[in-house]
Amino acid sequence: MHDPTIPTINIGVVGHVDHGKTTLVSGVTGTWTDRHSEELKRGISIRLGYADATFYKCESCEGPEIYSADGTCPSCGGKAAPMRSVSFVDAPGHETLMATMLSGSAIMDGAMLVIAANEPCPQPQTKEHLMALELTGITRIIIVQNKIDVVTQQAALENYKQIKKFVKGTVAENAPIVPVSAQKGINFSALIAALNETIPEMDRDPEAPPLLLLARSFDINKPGVGWKDIRGGVIGGSLIRGILREGDDIEIRPGRQHTIENRTIWEPIYTKITSMHMGSKKISIATPGGLTGIATKLDPAITKSDTLVGQVAGHPDALPPVWEKMKFNVTLMERVVGASSEQLIEPLKHKEPLMLSVGTAVTVGIVTGTKKDSIDVILKRPVCAELGSRIAISRQVGGRWRLIGMGILTE
Ligand code: GTP
Repeated sequence: MHDPTIPTINIGVVGHVDHGKTTLVSGVTGTWTDRHSEELKRGISIRLGYADATFYKCESCEGPEIYSADGTCPSCGGKAAPMRSVSFVDAPGHETLMATMLSGSAIMDGAMLVIAANEPCPQPQTKEHLMALELTGITRIIIVQNKIDVVTQQAALENYKQIKKFVKGTVAENAPIVPVSAQKGINFSALIAALNETIPEMDRDPEAPPLLLLARSFDINKPGVGWKDIRGGVIGGSLIRGILREGDDIEIRPGRQHTIENRTIWEPIYTKITSMHMGSKKISIATPGGLTGIATKLDPAITKSDTLVGQVAGHPDALPPVWEKMKFNVTLMERVVGASSEQLIEPLKHKEPLMLSVGTAVTVGIVTGTKKDSIDVILKRPVCAELGSRIAISRQVGGRWRLIGMGILTE
C-alpha cells in the first residue's frame, strides 16, 4: 500500500512578489525540507524550493473544517489521520523569477496562484504567472486570496470581484478562490479541501520508461574529505513518469560537454543509483511526485553546483532524443504582459536570440529560419526532449527576458 507520507504530486506556488507565497508554503508545511541542498548550506538562494506537506483528515467530524497539515482536527482538536502528501514547488528570486518559474512549471501537476487581497488585482506578475500557467498547459489551478487579515470584509469582496473579472476567459476562469491568511493560518482546512478536489491523485503508468527532470545536482562532500570517504555525485529532480529503483543503471542526457578538434560534442553519462531519498526519508523505489534525491557512483565534480540542472535521467537507451537544433510550431501572444507598458509583440526575426524553456532546461536558441507558424533554431546548449514537448519562448524586452509565446517541438 502507498505510504501517505510520501508525496505523489507537485503543486506550484506562483504569484506576484510579496503576495505571500513563501509564508503560505511555510505556514502549511511547517518546515522547508530541502536542507541538504548545497545552495542552502552556502546561503545562496535556491532555484526551485521544494517543501512537502502531509494532509490529514478527521475521521470523526464532518463539514469543511476537517482537514489539516499538522495532524490535529481543526473542529474537535482530536487526532486526524494522514491522507496524502504533496510537494510544493516555490519559485523564489526576483530577476530569475520567470526562467525559474517556467522550468518549475514542467514539474507542476497543478498550481496555487497567490493574490494579496490588499492590492488591486491584477499586479504585473499575477498576470505574467497566470499566462505562464496557461502557456505551459497547467489547468488545475486554485486561486489563494491571501492577507485577508489586513482588509475589511467589504474590501475582500471588492478584491474577489476584481479577481473574477481578471480570470474571465482564462484557464483559471472556474478555479476555486479560497480566502486565507497565510500568516495567521486562517482557512487552511478549506484550502486543503480545494487542493484535494482540484488536484487529486493522478493515474500514473508504473510501466512507462522513467523520466526524471533534474532540478538540482550537487557534491555532498565536505571540503578536505579523505579520498576513501568521498561520496558519489547527487542529482535531484522530479520523476514525471515511471519508477526508479535503488541499484538501477541510469543514463543522463545530454550529459557532458567535450571539445574535440575545436568541435563541441555532448556525451551521455552512465551511472548507477546507489541510494535515494525523498525529503529526509530513505526510499528504495521512487515514484512520481516530490523531489527525489539520487546518490550515484559519479565523480562529484560532474554533479557539483547544479551543473546538471535541466538534464534528463532515466534507464539507459530509453530516453528522448537530444536536440542541438530544432523546429517548432509557434503561437505568439499579442502583447507583452508583466511589464508596466504592455507593448505589442513583433514577429520573430532571423538571427534573434530567444530564451527557450523545455522541461526544466533553459537554453538560448538563435532563429535560423521563420515560416508562418513555425521557426528553426540552433541551440547554444542542447536539450533532451520528446517530440511534442511544450517550449516556453521568451525574448529580451527592455533588458529583461519576457515570455512572449509558446511552441510545440515538431522536428
Ligand atoms: P517573493 O518570494 O519575494 O515573491 O515573496 P512572497 O510572495 O513569497 O511573499 P512572502 O511570503 O515573503 O511575504 C511577503 C510579506 O507579506 C511578508 O512580510 C509576510 O510576512 C507578509 N504576509 C504574507 N502573508 C500574509 C498574511 O496572510 N497576512 C499578512 N498580514 N501579511 C502576510
